[in-house]
Amino acid sequence: MDRLSSPARLMIVSDLDHTMVDHHDPENISLLRFNALWESSYRHDSLLVFSTGRSPTLYKELRKEKPMLTPDITIMSVGTEITYGKSMVPDHGWVELLNQKWDRNVVIEEASKFSELKPQSETEQRAHKISFYINKEKAQQVMKGLYERLEKRGLDVKIIYSGGIDLDILPQGAGKGQALAYLLKKFKSEGKLPINTLVCGDSGNDAELFSISEVHGVMVSNAQEELLQWHAQNAKGNPKIIHSTERCAAGIIQAIGHFNLGPSISPRDAMDFTECQLENVNPGHEIVKFYLFYERWRRGEVENSESYYASLKSVCHPSGVFIHPSGEELSLHDSIDKLRNCYGDRHGAKYRVWIDRLLPTRISSDAWLVRFDKWESTGEECQCGVVTTLLRSKVADSLVDLLWEHVHQTWLDGFAAKDNNSWML
Ligand code: GLC
Ligand code: MG
Repeated sequence: MDRLSSPARLMIVSDLDHTMVDHHDPENISLLRFNALWESSYRHDSLLVFSTGRSPTLYKELRKEKPMLTPDITIMSVGTEITYGKSMVPDHGWVELLNQKWDRNVVIEEASKFSELKPQSETEQRAHKISFYINKEKAQQVMKGLYERLEKRGLDVKIIYSGGIDLDILPQGAGKGQALAYLLKKFKSEGKLPINTLVCGDSGNDAELFSISEVHGVMVSNAQEELLQWHAQNAKGNPKIIHSTERCAAGIIQAIGHFNLGPSISPRDAMDFTECQLENVNPGHEIVKFYLFYERWRRGEVENSESYYASLKSVCHPSGVFIHPSGEELSLHDSIDKLRNCYGDRHGAKYRVWIDRLLPTRISSDAWLVRFDKWESTGEECQCGVVTTLLRSKVADSLVDLLWEHVHQTWLDGFAAKDNNSWML
């Protein structure tokens, strides 16, 4: 959270399953489109928050399966666990708040009296969340009965039904909405309330997110009946909430555009990169654009033409070097030459490249030091380079070009390349 010294321009608080992540899209196209947009235009001054029903165990599993970005804040177990940064440092203050009028053992004891409730796996039973499966027909009646029993035992709980199958029991003060309210309060006290907040969801446990005042909201096109019903009963006519026509992450991008929250065209949607030259210097855009080209080059999706070499070389400083994780050096021009040999070498494969955690630091009036994680996936295997680049701006015809001066790559622990093409940028 301390990464930004001023209020975030945009804070996106998104659910994962069937919102940020489309389980019906094996190619993850909309997620990759979102990633490119976020890293090129938002990462440096905005905040990404994932808010999921999953426990830390299942959340980490999802991260291995899908090309997901690293959020600034992770809210897990239906708003009962809040952590910060990549290393996921827990918010102990939040945990303490949740202990009020809560007793796990009493919840388990009372719930066991309803034979319709089937416990979820052990990983999903958390300090402030107890979860079951129950089918739609019986859900409402059981929820009512269980609530009354727990009330009689002196507990103040919240029972949430999601996805037409999952039933979660949490302390009354917990939940995705309360966790967001807690964060907003914290930001406000630090004078860093985000300028805009966009909440994104698809199912019952997301409903609370949409009841926080001052936020924009998108229910993705594929939202569950229970969320749409909640909206019809509680928030109909609120212009700050839309039901997108696009699925999952594509619906989030659509909402950014609808509410005018900032750029809403993903670099992945531009085929001709020369078209997206900018009037303002944006190192993030330069880097995302380059690695998109790199992906398309290796997939054989762009033309194998001399003019591409010329333009790639023209943005590399003539004496610029690339330092490989092994410590060996290669001139940037030589590494561009190496690219020739791998045109189309990933043709027909599930090969994708995406950038994560891109952080530019301005080190002089015309130079930026940019660090980022560069992920490459072949579908089965993933490798990740931690890259630092020195970029310098050059003004030509009132447009700004960024020159690559140096590139230094190391491997992220556990994600070193296994193939011999790893010599490339
Ligand atoms: C996730 C969790 C599950 C929870 C559901 C709905 O699937 O793994 O425990 O019941 O979200 O909140
Ligand atoms: Mg969901």
